[in-house]
Amino acid sequence: MTERLRIENLYKVFSDKPAPALAMLKAGRRKSDVLEALGQVVGLDDVSLGVPSGAIYMIMGLSGSGKSTLARCINRLNEPSAGRILLDGDDICALDEPGLREVRRSRISMVFQHFALLPNRRVIENVEFGLKLRGMPAAERRRRAEEVLSIVGLARWAYHMPQELSGGMRQRVGLARALATEADVLIMDEAFSALDPLIRTEMQDELLRLQKTLNKTILFITHDFQEALRLGTRIAIMADGRLVREGTPQNIVMEPGSDYVAAFTRDVDRARLFDARSVMTALAPLWQGQGKVVMASNAGAAGFLLDAQARVLGTLDGAQVASACRGEAVPQANGQFTSVSASMRLIDVAGRCGGEHPIGVTDDDGTLIGVLDAKQVLARIGAGIGAGAQHV
Ligand SMILES: Nc1ncnc2c1ncn2[C@@H]1O[C@H](COP(=O)(O)OP(=O)(O)OP(=O)(O)O)[C@@H](O)[C@H]1O
Ligand SMILES: [Mg+2]
Repeated sequence: MTERLRIENLYKVFSDKPAPALAMLKAGRRKSDVLEALGQVVGLDDVSLGVPSGAIYMIMGLSGSGKSTLARCINRLNEPSAGRILLDGDDICALDEPGLREVRRSRISMVFQHFALLPNRRVIENVEFGLKLRGMPAAERRRRAEEVLSIVGLARWAYHMPQELSGGMRQRVGLARALATEADVLIMDEAFSALDPLIRTEMQDELLRLQKTLNKTILFITHDFQEALRLGTRIAIMADGRLVREGTPQNIVMEPGSDYVAAFTRDVDRARLFDARSVMTALAPLWQGQGKVVMASNAGAAGFLLDAQARVLGTLDGAQVASACRGEAVPQANGQFTSVSASMRLIDVAGRCGGEHPIGVTDDDGTLIGVLDAKQVLARIGAGIGAGAQHV
């Protein structure tokens, strides 16, 4: 996957003379030290990250951790104090005024939490506004605005006034406005945070649905870890202007790495986050002969007997696998087994762990790739419940 956006050692000090503060930060002092010594606020402290093309990349952290500063640095609404921001390899920090205007107009667009709709203009005119500023001819921008309004499900509302729309619908207009520019990088700063929970979930679903066809690169800022898990292909967690953790949602929940991050993960519903693949033990072909294949994780473990077409004939216990591996006997398969797909969520897998049959894991084309241990499934679902109990 190519990288659309790369941020390298980015610093932001809110000051005309950031040099002393930068020197302190580079020497290992922190935001609070700089504030105390110099009275200057640090927004970003040595942030580096890469956003793959087509990702929904979440920036998450408590209030004041620097999320919006990061977002605003990317199109230089905030001027970075040091570092590089590469968009498809071009350094945004090195752009002159016209170059920057071009980036804001056609390559990166932003959706804010509280963005203003022009109250005395119809919805469609609001969507067209940016296109008009770009000098797009009237007929063309009207067509484009109608197109994006229908993408966000507001075609019927195009000729209504903004005050006739609900909060969620207005947020969709903001989204439509960002989509209208055809920029392939979208920065959404707390775009759904002001919505009530039901509408918010609906907008999250909508974004996931849209992303399947739009395939934009989205930098989505939120202080809500559940939202980050729900939407994110990757999550970067910030604290005091620093990036403290970065990874996939599953990876972060599994290994928070610090108390700060662990605190966010406590109430996570692991059964819905993790899939069978994340807890399975991988199987390998250990013996093969007479049209049969023995698959197990190692020579002493229980496994499966397959035919030459990779169909599962039955299960083998550890002793049978071991003796087959020693070449002693052609194994006879035992009885029953269950199988689940690798992408099945643990909440659904758990229901099948009750029986005494081994559970095989198959990939998309039905090939057996792993085996599940009921204990491990339950351990993964239950991890964090203890920590949660301390929490309350
Ligand atoms: N224009 C500014 N001048 C001075 N300090 C600023 C400015 N903008 C932000 N800050 C400071 O920079 C730090 C990061 O702020 P930022 O708005 O990026 O946080 P955030 O993570 O977006 O928080 P929130 O979740 O509340 O939106 C804070 O300490 C804030 O006080
Ligand atoms: Mg913010």
